[in-house]
Amino acid sequence: MTTSYFFTVCIFVSVAQLTPGAVADCNNTCDCNNCGFNTVCVNGSCQCKANYTGNPYFHCYDVDNLYCSISSDPRVRPFNGPSYNANIMGSTRMASLRTTRSDANQSCELTLFTYTERVEGKLYVKDAQYQIKVPSPSNPTRNSSLVVQITAVKRNNVTTWTIKNNLQGFIPQIITGNFTVTVFNCRIQYYLCPSRLLAINISCCGIFIGFRPFMTKDTKDMPGIFVEVESANKPLFDTWEPTNEPLCLGSEFFDILRVMNVTGISDPTKAGTYLALTNGLPASGGEPENQPQTSADLKFCNAARRLLVLDYEWFALSDAKLINCVSVNEGLDDLFLFIRWILNWRCTNSVLRCNDAKNQILTNCGPNVINQPAVSDFLNRNCSSPQN
Ligand SMILES: *[C@@H]1O[C@H](CO)[C@@H](O)[C@H](O)[C@H]1NC(C)=O
Ligand SMILES: *[C@@H]1O[C@H](CO)[C@@H](O)[C@H](O)[C@H]1NC(C)=O
Ligand SMILES: *[C@@H]1O[C@H](CO)[C@@H](O)[C@H](O)[C@H]1NC(C)=O
Ligand SMILES: *[C@@H]1O[C@H](CO)[C@@H](O)[C@H](O)[C@H]1NC(C)=O
Ligand SMILES: *[C@@H]1O[C@H](CO)[C@@H](O)[C@H](O)[C@H]1NC(C)=O
Ligand SMILES: *[C@@H]1O[C@H](CO)[C@@H](O)[C@H](O)[C@H]1NC(C)=O
Ligand SMILES: *[C@@H]1O[C@H](CO)[C@@H](O)[C@H](O)[C@H]1NC(C)=O
Ligand SMILES: *[C@@H]1O[C@H](CO)[C@@H](O)[C@H](O)[C@H]1NC(C)=O
Ligand SMILES: *[C@@H]1O[C@H](CO)[C@@H](O)[C@H](O)[C@H]1NC(C)=O
Ligand SMILES: *[C@@H]1O[C@H](CO)[C@@H](O)[C@H](O)[C@H]1NC(C)=O
Repeated sequence: MTTSYFFTVCIFVSVAQLTPGAVADCNNTCDCNNCGFNTVCVNGSCQCKANYTGNPYFHCYDVDNLYCSISSDPRVRPFNGPSYNANIMGSTRMASLRTTRSDANQSCELTLFTYTERVEGKLYVKDAQYQIKVPSPSNPTRNSSLVVQITAVKRNNVTTWTIKNNLQGFIPQIITGNFTVTVFNCRIQYYLCPSRLLAINISCCGIFIGFRPFMTKDTKDMPGIFVEVESANKPLFDTWEPTNEPLCLGSEFFDILRVMNVTGISDPTKAGTYLALTNGLPASGGEPENQPQTSADLKFCNAARRLLVLDYEWFALSDAKLINCVSVNEGLDDLFLFIRWILNWRCTNSVLRCNDAKNQILTNCGPNVINQPAVSDFLNRNCSSPQN
């Protein structure tokens, strides 16, 4: 890691403006239209600069650091272990770890929640919430917490970023440029890149967070969220219940295989989805109304019956067109309700909930969805005998 601030290494150029094969003059430009941080533009393509790795259209990170991301609908690249896919929706605990502060012999605790929405059934990151807990500057035997919520809303190809924090009563402020704040003697830099990536350097904790919301299908922007942790800040991970752990996992004995082992879910995508649906933000009003109850129902469903949902009712979680039509009125609230009804049918034999789920499809979806084999198979099922 160099000691320079990250924007001084921002050497990017818009790929969209270049014709294939042209030699790019990207040496002193900082357009960042599609490239991520720490990239260089070579012959019109984004590439990671030397000693950095990652996806140059999203973010390149120092090879010595720990790195986790959720991107490319919906792939989780954890701090360790193999990457896995998960159908993530609503509030999800992405990372939770402790580091040593660079500027004092003290610790720093990070918790990062991400909030994913669906547009046309496709996943994207809409909100993030990070919390930093450090020893209080006035009384080091106590901790002080900073809680920051960031929301990205896109309208007419323009992304509006709103930020709010606990120290200022969660009063929303719109971000229009780069700025720096000092909180608990720690300098936090917010960097709004023209590539529509918002990055946050919490340098005293050695933590770098960034995210890019969903734009349009036709841009090269890769939406997603990442967290990079400097190895010099000696990250430490707590132990977690295997079905409640952050998606980034962390210490050497955590990975998706453990979740699969404990839940009996043999498919890594389904195990990842289970984890994403059950580890959300404790009820805070920020998550979809029906998420906490759906999450609890999933968690406390008999394991064998839960597998029925994950194996046979998987279409409810993975079919983009179906997700789009069942959630057309109230968005994720409707989607969580739909999943909950199917769960209640499977877990408690509720004929009523089975019919509710069928009605939700029949009322909101067109023939292109209703006639899909998995969906029509569900619609033809006898709600009174759920084991068929
Ligand atoms: C964050 O800021 C620190 C101090 O300014 C710098 O050393 C570090 O490289 C920055 N992190 C990233 C990922 O750019
Ligand atoms: C970019 O910088 C490199 C190294 O400094 C130099 O060799 C090259 O000529 C520059 N390219 C352009 C197009 O200016
Ligand atoms: C850029 O492309 C040209 C033409 O294809 C090639 O000759 C040159 O080696 C490439 N340069 C780099 C740095 O890849
Ligand atoms: C990359 O790392 C190697 C080995 O640590 C070092 O020799 C080299 O100078 C680094 N390159 C850059 C561009 O920092
Ligand atoms: C940091 O604090 C711990 C516990 O108070 C102490 O054992 C250690 O020596 C300190 N390290 C430094 C570098 O001050
Ligand atoms: C402060 O936070 C640290 C790191 O998470 C934790 O170990 C410690 O117990 C906390 N102290 C208090 C007084 O809550
Ligand atoms: C958004 O941008 C895309 C790609 O540049 C363009 O095709 C589309 O028409 C734009 N939409 C609006 C509403 O401006
Ligand atoms: C933030 O700083 C970088 C580097 O100085 C610059 O390229 C970028 O345009 C700035 N963002 C805004 C919104 O001013
Ligand atoms: C899976 O669980 C069993 C029983 O709890 C345990 O003995 C085994 O070591 C676990 N395997 C892995 C890969 O975690
Ligand atoms: C549905 O299943 C129940 C219980 O097995 C059975 O009594 C009923 O006749 C079935 N209905 C139809 C239409 O097959």
